[in-house]
Amino acid sequence: MTGLEKKTAAITGAAGGIGQAISKQFVANGFHVIAGDADQTGMDQLEAELNRIGQNVWSKAGDLRNKAYCEELIDYSIQITGTLDVLVNNAGIITRGNILETTDEDWERTFDINLTSIFWRAIGHMKGHGGGAIVNIASCWGLYPGPGHAAYCTSKAAVATLSKCLGRDHAGDGIRVNAVCPNEVNTPMLRTGFAKRGFNPDTAIAELNNTVPLGRIAEPEDIADAVYFLSSNAARYIAGTTVEVNGAKPVY
Ligand SMILES: NC(=O)c1ccc[n+]([C@@H]2O[C@H](COP(=O)([O-])OP(=O)(O)OC[C@H]3O[C@@H](n4cnc5c(N)ncnc54)[C@H](O)[C@@H]3O)[C@@H](O)[C@H]2O)c1
Repeated sequence: MTGLEKKTAAITGAAGGIGQAISKQFVANGFHVIAGDADQTGMDQLEAELNRIGQNVWSKAGDLRNKAYCEELIDYSIQITGTLDVLVNNAGIITRGNILETTDEDWERTFDINLTSIFWRAIGHMKGHGGGAIVNIASCWGLYPGPGHAAYCTSKAAVATLSKCLGRDHAGDGIRVNAVCPNEVNTPMLRTGFAKRGFNPDTAIAELNNTVPLGRIAEPEDIADAVYFLSSNAARYIAGTTVEVNGAKPVY
């Protein structure tokens, strides 16, 4: 594959646990990656690792609550690499609490970041340029809500439903939209949650591993493999659906 033939994937939350693994997976498969995240330091580290042999990753830091940044990220992909073939809407936050414990700000922030980000501009571009693939990271907790996470579960349910809506509405434009729904994944999101509640993350994850029929919670690479598959030609007939990646563990 020459540089001119390379495809481009824009990935949000690229400095996080799953986002880094997704970025590495796309670079390993010959893609240019446009990395978006609020964490510039994390993206600098990602770039340092993935740009050792030629430039594969360009990062643009910003806040996905800012619509101008969401649009800039898509425009940046096209400006830098000339194309946008894949978009992975991966950035997200977990907001804990039942509805009485959830403030207006919690609710708005959760929906802004988890749901209302960069779908529209990407679809507009892909529609006019031969199509593409969009993979959104929802959650098993959006399909089968767990306890005490009203805003998070509802936002992820919306991501799953929006993925189906967009998948159906834009299949005819050559754009395949799907969502990946992980259960627990060994990332900073999960580990800091344990630490905040006073648990040792390693011990808590070892206990959690025993609750998964496949014997362990997911590693970020398990999710990245599913994301890459859905974006690839191997998934050419899969559109408008959700894929659970959960080690056979139900939500309870
Ligand atoms: N870890 C899990 O157990 C789990 C389970 C199911 C679904 N998910 C979903 O997977 C996705 C990735 O989660 P992760 O576990 O890698 O989390 P993470 O906390 O490691 O990474 C999330 C990234 O999103 C970025 N981000 C958050 N808010 C942002 C904003 N306003 N603007 C720009 N960037 C922002 C953060 O800086 C961070 O780098 C999320 O959507 C999450 O809800 C995670």
